[in-house]
Amino acid sequence: MRQAGRYMAEYRALRQNYTLLQICRTPDLATEVTLQPLRRIELDAAIVFSDLLLPLEPMGIPFDFIQGEGPAIESPLRSEADIDRVRVFEPRESLGHVLDAIRQITHELDGRVPLIGFAGAPFTLASYAIEGGHSNSFALTKALMYENPSAWHRLCGKLTTVVADYLGAQIEAGVDAVQVFDSWVGALNAQDYREFAQPHTRRLFEAIDGRVPSIHFGTSTGAILPDMRDAGGDVVGADWRTRLDDAWSRIGHDRAIQGNLDPTLLLGPRDRMLRSAADILAQAGGRPGHIFNLGHGILPMTPVENVQALARFVHEQTRT
Ligand code: CP3
Repeated sequence: MRQAGRYMAEYRALRQNYTLLQICRTPDLATEVTLQPLRRIELDAAIVFSDLLLPLEPMGIPFDFIQGEGPAIESPLRSEADIDRVRVFEPRESLGHVLDAIRQITHELDGRVPLIGFAGAPFTLASYAIEGGHSNSFALTKALMYENPSAWHRLCGKLTTVVADYLGAQIEAGVDAVQVFDSWVGALNAQDYREFAQPHTRRLFEAIDGRVPSIHFGTSTGAILPDMRDAGGDVVGADWRTRLDDAWSRIGHDRAIQGNLDPTLLLGPRDRMLRSAADILAQAGGRPGHIFNLGHGILPMTPVENVQALARFVHEQTRT
């Protein structure tokens, strides 16, 4: 989950001088930003500071982040010819800066907390490449999927090959666990998930299986949690729309679960935030295999003091 970022003054200060992509591409800066939240908040793990979209550029799909709007792909993929131009690349060369950052962060952490690497799942990456940025309906993505399934599967095949290799390279560089973000896959119903997303995500998890623990995360996934579980991941992440106990029984208690406090609760009254956190812990019932987390990324206007109070509270409640 997004851990560093605009809710921290020290991150905003650095962003005065560098763009998001400059931070991602400069190992010293990526290391600094990765460590910022750990200095202020009682966190149990660090997540590499990078972005989900970085693999798109070396695949021939350049993009930028536009202030206030989010990611913008220069020439979104709209045809079979566009898809056939997409390249598979060697992450150790084109994304070597992320691997350098991982080595540097691992060195600085010196075993204090584990480091999580991450990448996007094929569906979510494909949706950015096709929509050109964020979308509410994913209409262009679904239209391409339904109209030209073989081109869709070829695109996801290339994305899977790249992401599997990229996660493998992150593991070699020293991450202790990996998280696969299929952030927007909840746009699919279960049948479409099984046809268009699951085969690729499954191949991705098979490629990294057994090397380090893996987390499989998505949002609005109430209809597809068991199918996501079947695709892979030692841990399945749930957002806040589904109760944690319901989500866990549908995923199965033989898997671990991550989640699932609504990030907007961190904006409001602290007692309500802590009551909701206590409720999630009660739903987990002290069973092993619950990773307490937010149900999605932290919002930019979140007061750091609330994040600190939340982490402290969860530790107090779960200390044995
Ligand atoms: O420290 C950390 O938490 C790791 C950093 C991290 C970023 N992006 C940096 C970032 C992680 C884990 C991501 C993943 C990511 N990126 C996802 C999957 C997670 C999710 O939220 O579901 C997605 C969908 C993206 C693509 C992306 N990057 C979007 C949609 C945006 C714009 C969001 C916004 O609110 O404007 C980004 C920008 C981005 N990536 C920021 C950060 C900290 C915003 C900060 C900035 O602009 O300086």
